[in-house]
Amino acid sequence: MQTAHTNGIETAFTDEGSGPAVLLLHGYPFNRTMWREQIEALQSRYRVVAPDLRGLGESKAAGVIAPMEQMAADVAVLLDQLRLERVVVCGLSMGGYVAFDFFHSFPDRVSGLVLAGTRAPADNDHERQARERQAARILGQGMRGIADETLPKLLARETLERRPEVADRVREMIEGTSPHAAAAAQLGMAARRDYSQDLPSINVPVLIVVGREDTIRPVSDAEFMHQHLRDSRLEIIENASHISNLDQPEKFNRILREFLNG
Ligand code: MLT
Repeated sequence: MQTAHTNGIETAFTDEGSGPAVLLLHGYPFNRTMWREQIEALQSRYRVVAPDLRGLGESKAAGVIAPMEQMAADVAVLLDQLRLERVVVCGLSMGGYVAFDFFHSFPDRVSGLVLAGTRAPADNDHERQARERQAARILGQGMRGIADETLPKLLARETLERRPEVADRVREMIEGTSPHAAAAAQLGMAARRDYSQDLPSINVPVLIVVGREDTIRPVSDAEFMHQHLRDSRLEIIENASHISNLDQPEKFNRILREFLNG
């Protein structure tokens, strides 16, 4: 495991391959291991960097709240230390929120964006309160309930029925997450900006990816971003849900490679 000091915390990361740099930002409450298949597929042509975001995975210390812009700032320090000036940023779900904030704070450091299973608008009051309730519950009861509740939505029906090892892998990621860090990330997501206002000014090519079966961040969220971005391509992956890169790694990798090669 490699680690770097970033804004007072220890960030664990994977750094493989050589070539133009691609930064992979994981979702909630996961960690960088969710990108294993993408790292393997890309590293022969690209330098692939995948951090564990603040407090998650093997990274340390989250604080009571882990704002998305703080996670983006951590990533920028990591890239400084790796001497990477410009990257393609690929974020899934919460990683997409961090990608939006990274572009907002460091637009010159982004050569392209991949937004997977994510959305631009901020939460409404109801969604914010649900996140606050979940954060309190996690602190009181730990992560197991979250895994039981969310697994059926995170993966596609076909994956759940035929590839139990993938479900086990996701459960392991969730249950291995520090409740303290998960609660902080949840509160950070609740407080995130409305990224819709950023969409028209994003001046780099964007690939939007969404699983057809994703009910957490459905196709309509992806279409909204596609309509408001200047230069975007929308890819809907069949038999995939929220973590589309785990449901359909080969399709996800093909789409990602086509975008990066272009
Ligand atoms: C994620 O997968 O990162 C979360 O579903 C994001 C969210 O709760 O908005």
